[in-house]
Amino acid sequence: MSNDGVNAGRRRFLVAATSVVGAAGAAGAAIPFLGSWAPSARAKAAGAPVRVNISKVEPGQQVVAEWRGQPVFVLHRTPEIMEGLKKLEPSLADPGSKESDQPTYVNPEERSIKPELLIVLGVCTHLGCAPTFRPEVAPADLGPEWVGGYFCACHGSRYDLAGRVYKSQPAPLNLPVPPHSYESDNIVIIGIDEEKV
Ligand code: FES
Repeated sequence: MSNDGVNAGRRRFLVAATSVVGAAGAAGAAIPFLGSWAPSARAKAAGAPVRVNISKVEPGQQVVAEWRGQPVFVLHRTPEIMEGLKKLEPSLADPGSKESDQPTYVNPEERSIKPELLIVLGVCTHLGCAPTFRPEVAPADLGPEWVGGYFCACHGSRYDLAGRVYKSQPAPLNLPVPPHSYESDNIVIIGIDEEKV
């Protein structure tokens, strides 16, 4: 290959590289404000807080947010669910969450700041699979005793609708509750502790 050929190829590369930088620079200049509100993928992975609008989450419904690359279950519990939680305590491994991972400002039995809103990491405490939200009562695959909860299909661990694990499961502890706080009635921030808001 002649020198000319090399130089022509290098020029083409430089022109292309400059165009990409120009485009990125222009986009960055156009939306600096938006940029400060939308954390980059790297910032999210490092733990930037995540705002979740809960105004449309109906009673009995769950949405899944993402924080630090992990699923976060946000469940709107009904009064019936809350009533049922108390009856389950004799069957649970750590009903008062003495050993489990949760912030001190969370009620240890209900495992939430507001009774109706459960916020837990969707990460099984056995080997880290994501449990499935199974709110139905006595489905064929989970049996007549099932009153609604989270089921981890990897090795069969069962949790109630406060993320508390039943006795004698592969998972040793309740689902962790991440740091969180309420910015308003409709907005919860995952990743910022309540007292720091
Ligand atoms: S990872 Fe959930 S039961 Fe093993």
